[in-house]
Amino acid sequence: MKMQEELIEKAKEARKDAYAPYSDFKVGAAVLTRDGEIYTGCNIENSSYGLSICAERVAIFNAVSAGKSDLVAVALTADSKELVTPCGACRQVIFEFNEDMDVIMSDLSGKVSIKSIDELLWKGFSLKE
Ligand code: THU
Repeated sequence: MKMQEELIEKAKEARKDAYAPYSDFKVGAAVLTRDGEIYTGCNIENSSYGLSICAERVAIFNAVSAGKSDLVAVALTADSKELVTPCGACRQVIFEFNEDMDVIMSDLSGKVSIKSIDELLWKGFSLKE
């Protein structure tokens, strides 16, 4: 299986654990580390809506908190009419861990679109030298 397909499969698997009782919009994500490991995440909502967190950030924070912050790709998936795209906050978080990270957007029907984060976030903020 191609790495891209494997990441999408893992994102789909992670989506099953989404906790989205308020929006009913379940999202799964999977990130690939430079050394070939995969970490996953799902969206997790809260009664206090603003505390909800997107699947991409959960996956990235999962990787980083396991000591893996050199990330090469992130896949996300949802069951939506239009392909799901990362929100602005997630784009900035993706940018933090690789300014050229591949963002693989997918749905349950097999539709896929891949863009580099530098196309999705023009001049993301960075304190790195
Ligand atoms: N959501 C994600 O998890 N990732 C995205 O890329 C878009 C939005 C979540 C946040 C919230 O739980 C639900 O989708 C509806 O906005």
